[in-house]
Amino acid sequence: MRRRLLLLSMLTLASGYGQKKNDDKSVKIKPKAEFVADLMSKMTVEEKIYQLVQFSSDGTVTGRKSGDNYITRIQQGKVGSVLNATGAANNRMIQKLAVENSRLKIPLLFGHDVIHGYKTIFPINLGMASSFDPAAVEKAARVAAVEASAGGIHWTFAPMVDIARDPRWGRVSEGSGEDVYLGSKLAAANVRGFQGDDLSKNNTILACAKHFAAYGAAEAGRDYNTTDMSERVLRDTYLPPFHAAVDAGVKTFMASFNEISGVPSTGNKHLLRDVLKEEWKFDGMVVSDYTGVNEMIAHGFAKDDQDAAQLALNAGMDMDMVGGTFMNTLKKSYDEGKVSIEVINDACKRVLDVKYDLGLFEDPYRYFDEAREKENTYKPDFLEAALDVAKKSMVLLKNKNNVLPLKKDMKIAFVGPLASDEYNIIGSWAALGERDGRAVSVKEGVMNLLGANAKVTFDAGVELSGNKSNMMKAAYANALKADVIVAVMGERENQSGEAGSQTNIDLPGMQKEFLMQLRGLGKPIVLVLMNGRPLTLSWEDENIDAILETWWSGTRGGDAIAQTLFGDNNPNGKLPISFPRSVGQIPVYYNHKNTGRPYLGQSDSEQKYKSRYTDSDNSPLYPFGYGLSYTKFDYSNLKLSTAKLKFNEKLKISVEVTNTGNYAGDEVVQLYVKDVVGSVTRPVRELKGFEKVNLKKGEKKTVTFELSSDDLKFYNIDMQNTAEAGDFEIFVGGSSDATLNGKFELVK
Ligand code: GLC
Repeated sequence: MRRRLLLLSMLTLASGYGQKKNDDKSVKIKPKAEFVADLMSKMTVEEKIYQLVQFSSDGTVTGRKSGDNYITRIQQGKVGSVLNATGAANNRMIQKLAVENSRLKIPLLFGHDVIHGYKTIFPINLGMASSFDPAAVEKAARVAAVEASAGGIHWTFAPMVDIARDPRWGRVSEGSGEDVYLGSKLAAANVRGFQGDDLSKNNTILACAKHFAAYGAAEAGRDYNTTDMSERVLRDTYLPPFHAAVDAGVKTFMASFNEISGVPSTGNKHLLRDVLKEEWKFDGMVVSDYTGVNEMIAHGFAKDDQDAAQLALNAGMDMDMVGGTFMNTLKKSYDEGKVSIEVINDACKRVLDVKYDLGLFEDPYRYFDEAREKENTYKPDFLEAALDVAKKSMVLLKNKNNVLPLKKDMKIAFVGPLASDEYNIIGSWAALGERDGRAVSVKEGVMNLLGANAKVTFDAGVELSGNKSNMMKAAYANALKADVIVAVMGERENQSGEAGSQTNIDLPGMQKEFLMQLRGLGKPIVLVLMNGRPLTLSWEDENIDAILETWWSGTRGGDAIAQTLFGDNNPNGKLPISFPRSVGQIPVYYNHKNTGRPYLGQSDSEQKYKSRYTDSDNSPLYPFGYGLSYTKFDYSNLKLSTAKLKFNEKLKISVEVTNTGNYAGDEVVQLYVKDVVGSVTRPVRELKGFEKVNLKKGEKKTVTFELSSDDLKFYNIDMQNTAEAGDFEIFVGGSSDATLNGKFELVK
């Protein structure tokens, strides 16, 4: 904080700007194409190159220090964008430096990682994906955009849309899990939320589809590691959510650190130009990831900074994040004929276009209004939205003997290192989210719900990841006197997220040992999990009565968890990613191929020569799409509108869902499709539709889906993106292992 004040006073002096009102009035300017062309006609080659330069403030550290004093660079007019600078007053100061020190007064673009909230923090994206509720995800992004834009931010480096099937990779926490269909729907929902319907409104921000591409396929789940795949897997599995973001109008992309089959994305012409800018006609701007351009030297793809910069720019990279390579070498490359003015112009135009879209040329200070910042932060309806989305993201994994919901008059011993935690609960990549003192812990949430007379105790018992267990005795003593034990356990918030890969994904430290001890008391135990990735929970599944997955649930997390534990909220989330039985099983995901020797389980007549493990089931501990409720839902009466679907027709699929339990609740009805025979092998099933329905106790509803041949497309043997005539099966239910099924034939 001290450093920021120092910077603030330094900037105040340097720019001679006090706190006086915004004295820059908006000016009416020409239409975009004309305005940008005019501006570029006045710019020198160097000035065009400097628009492609992004440096980081030291407001937030999201990577290795850039070593360059970005303020000096701004005063030299050598910067087009700044990341990690926040605050209306702070960013106004920096903007003034840029506008008043550059010959053509071109405003800066301010970017920041607003991933799951800016100040009001929502559940991590893997948690929000568990809601299977695009409207809820869009709402969260909209709230984040209002708070961030009021805080001086023009551009968020979100949504992260990387498909991920490997929970050893810490960044699974930032995305929407393993499925293409769900990931694509939520990518579009995030873009709509961040960008709104009109980017010229000052409560909207540029979204950024990242990390392009296939970053989640890192070998061995080790961050930044190699990915290697066929063009077909790339296009069928990893690209669709990015394409969905383009269809939703996303204005920026961020390239991924990794190579794909030998070519780093940062310098991947096929990816950035052929696919993104030509085939998909993307007219927005592509930024590298943090020093991603320089890192092509370590990749062994470039020999030095100049080589890296010209490779990146020629491949379709429009902005160099922090690396300084564009600033330091592109003019030389231009003089040496290694980059053309056309390529420089294209990149510069894309950067100026998005600045125009945001209205920055009319008023460079329109995002820097301190009064607006104050009135648009932590608004009550923002905090209500955070609670609502958190409640929708809870996934009930087990509930033996209906231990949950708890009764409010029970004697309950809350134990575990996260029972009173206000720090980790908002997760990683939490922007300016305040932790202690602002975020609601489970303890606070329980007291908010039950009041001061609640018969509850709270003891950590063990550390979150250390091996100190001197607190276990106190916890044990209270557990002995309780009717039910609620263990709130999980990871540290920074165990997942960037650079958070792990070979062991058990409950960390002594938490599992503590659970084993508590198990010896013979009392019902509820395990509440706070984590950013699937954990290996086979022992817990075997021995613990109830397990509630809450992820990192955000500023209102404690309230959401308490209301779920005591039945005010009936959990209705579904897993967006499979939970493996063991690390040895990874990658395990639902839409796998059948192989020539599929193992049919214990009933299989051939137990040996099948695709199976001799020491484990093939199935995950908990599959994609799985999640229980306090009530029960039955599926019946599956109907198809036709047994033969023509290419230009639609198939209607209807199913009856009945609430046969004792609570009202929401159910995510899921539709899966299997393409039985293809010109290439096809997954055993793929999600092609979902709908969340609310059913009162005893209520029945009919849910209808529509399918067309467009929904059945894939990259066939000739790499054409098309559907193929033939037999299809459908499965409908509340998880990816749904059994209620029907058949149809797609006919020419
Ligand atoms: C980081 C991350 C990226 C983030 C960027 C800026 O290294 O890979 O997701 O947006 O740098 O902070």
